[in-house]
Amino acid sequence: MATEWTRTQIEPAMKDTVWIRPLCADDLEQLVAWDGNPAVAELMGQRFEGADSARAWLLAMGPRRGRLGVAVMEGPRLMGDVELEHIVWRTGEAELRICLGNPAEWGRGLGTAAMHLVLAWAFGPLALRRVYLRVAVDNRRAVRLYEKCGFGKRAKLPSTGRLRQARAVWLMELTAASYGGAAGRPRASAAGRGSTVLE
Ligand SMILES: CC(C)(COP(=O)(O)OP(=O)(O)OC[C@H]1O[C@@H](n2cnc3c(N)ncnc32)[C@H](O)[C@@H]1OP(=O)(O)O)[C@@H](O)C(=O)NCCC(=O)NCCS
Repeated sequence: MATEWTRTQIEPAMKDTVWIRPLCADDLEQLVAWDGNPAVAELMGQRFEGADSARAWLLAMGPRRGRLGVAVMEGPRLMGDVELEHIVWRTGEAELRICLGNPAEWGRGLGTAAMHLVLAWAFGPLALRRVYLRVAVDNRRAVRLYEKCGFGKRAKLPSTGRLRQARAVWLMELTAASYGGAAGRPRASAAGRGSTVLE
């Protein structure tokens, strides 16, 4: 796999832009704090049981383990994370999960910008062919985000995950081929707002 997990300096020009980089240990304190917010846990389920479990979670990341964690940055600020998990390199498939940690930042386009950066990376340098996800059917903001990015609903499943209340979920998927042809595909300038530093 071509991708190197490197950190890159923030250029002054990227001060207010959305960009992505690999998650690192410095991010964990913030991720754990967000995880404890009931508004986030309601939608994501609780991921960590304190700092130790977050450290173990990060240590379990890596291409060979089929899990990659991405930090969503806006200028110098960590805004959230995206996880590609259950990656099967042979078939080019992965499950995606995204979370912006501060509810006050929801609904202003950050998730859309981040998703396009991650998808361009997943279908570009990572050479994945299919990305899928599960989302609670009543999480309308997230469903709208995914549809905007080109994901299609494939099945409605009973909840089996870590969400507090049992809620049905949509299984949604996007293929590299359909993303290439999707109207929402980012053009280098339009998306925007930044560039991936993961190559
Ligand atoms: C889901 C999430 C990543 C979306 O990121 P975001 O920055 O809030 O989303 P954006 O502002 O880019 O786009 C949201 C879209 O949903 C729309 N939307 C917002 N609330 C909505 C609602 N109640 N019903 C339908 N659409 C809604 C917005 O209008 C926007 O669409 P538009 O651009 O066509 O107007 C973010 O809100 C988040 O992290 N939420 C908590 C965790 C979560 O739910 N993760 C997904 C779990 S699968």
